[in-house]
Amino acid sequence: MSRTLIKNGKVVSTTGVVEHDVLLDGETISALGAPGYFTEEGIDRVIDAAGKYVIPGGIDVHTHMELPFGGTFASDTFETGTRAAAWGGTTTIIDFAVQKAGEDVHAGLADWHRKAEGECAIDYGFHQIIGGVDDESLKAMKYLVDHEGISSFKLFMAYPGVFYSDDGQVLRAMQTAAECGAMIMMHAENGIAIDVLVQQALARGETDPKYHSLTRPSPLEAEATHRAIVLSHVAGNVPLYVVHMSAGDALNEIAAARHLGRNVFAETCPQYLYLTLEETLGKPGFEGAKWVCSTPVRSKTNDPHYIGQMGHGHQSDLWKGLRMNELAIVSTDHCPFCFKDQKEMGLGNFSAIPNGIGGVEHRMELLYQGVASGELSLERWVETCCTTPARMFGLYPRKGVITPGADADVVVWDPTKKTKIGINDKHHMNMDHSAYEGYVIDGKVDTVISRGTVVVEGDQYVGRKGHGQYLKRGLSQYLV
Ligand code: URP
Ligand code: ZN
Ligand code: ZN
Repeated sequence: MSRTLIKNGKVVSTTGVVEHDVLLDGETISALGAPGYFTEEGIDRVIDAAGKYVIPGGIDVHTHMELPFGGTFASDTFETGTRAAAWGGTTTIIDFAVQKAGEDVHAGLADWHRKAEGECAIDYGFHQIIGGVDDESLKAMKYLVDHEGISSFKLFMAYPGVFYSDDGQVLRAMQTAAECGAMIMMHAENGIAIDVLVQQALARGETDPKYHSLTRPSPLEAEATHRAIVLSHVAGNVPLYVVHMSAGDALNEIAAARHLGRNVFAETCPQYLYLTLEETLGKPGFEGAKWVCSTPVRSKTNDPHYIGQMGHGHQSDLWKGLRMNELAIVSTDHCPFCFKDQKEMGLGNFSAIPNGIGGVEHRMELLYQGVASGELSLERWVETCCTTPARMFGLYPRKGVITPGADADVVVWDPTKKTKIGINDKHHMNMDHSAYEGYVIDGKVDTVISRGTVVVEGDQYVGRKGHGQYLKRGLSQYLV
């Protein structure tokens, strides 16, 4: 069994930063000690982390490898997507297996196992999308919790005719989840109202990418979030986790529910913290298609629809929400599509542009930039990107923490270097553009270790496909 010693680093956890050496024995962390406590005798590899941070491997709880969507497939496979994740200091992903109306949940899950098995560079788990709520799929939910290590189910209040569930279906799925102790993950947008706005915009000849955001105004995210919270209460206080939150007004609904002590949680994604309608989706011509995703990127400060505190913008509200634990987690909703041939399917009709942004490689980097610019503490960076994801989705303490007995998923982070993101700079996702082209980030991934194996070393990828294992998850450990 190989033994690795990470010495002289500053170990960051949710509770502070401590100078500790970390000993890895095979696939697990075996001990932490004061600097110099461990001798190097019998150690196979010594990593000198002087001047660097030592953090738990990142956990991205929202990715879509090879998702069939909008008439095409997300362009990262499990092989390319998990390799890119590793490049960015993420050592676990949770992807979404898919079931649609009329399809069998078990077949959808088997399909996802087939896509992922033997392909992944890092460990992976699955949530299950329930796109067709009926007696069979409700029965399958129970089976997945009990036998398949899947304890979270995504429902959609958006995308009528694709993944959409009406309120009755949402309620039934929530009641079932409440019976099995599972988590409901919600895509909270009023898809019926959005479809009307989309048809009206197209009829007026408004076809450019920016209309994707303008036809999905933030009150329709807030309204759906509120409705999901009410339904989850009626369904027996089932734990609710609202995904890819982009709007300050929706966040207010989460804050209010949390203030009442409810098991209501939300995540946001780097695109909502950094990208704006004006600078991305609103670019002239068709280029904005690169940034079409749902929920949409929003106006920085001038959103006329925003039902929020005057003078605030969505982004500043989201950063504040992260600090206040109104937003518990940062995921990526990684769903990449190439510009050529894929995004181009929506030339002349924004509603035909496949929805999604690729970002699995850059989450840890972009959120560290939040630390460098004073939006977040180091501890909160680790909490929102590593530790809470593990606790929220039943992986703790195996993942998300540097402690004896945990998997040896560790990242050494160099705060003195910089990372330049871009198609000709740092970019390993299988897509022909970068949503963050030209961004220069403080800090850099130095070494990435997945279950005791070094997978990234400086500017070299040294991992292999098939190293990553499927993770059967337990119930959420985050509930009050
Ligand atoms: O634009 C997005 N988010 N695409 C992926 C599907 C989803 O709703 O998460
Ligand atoms: Zn969604
Ligand atoms: Zn998604």
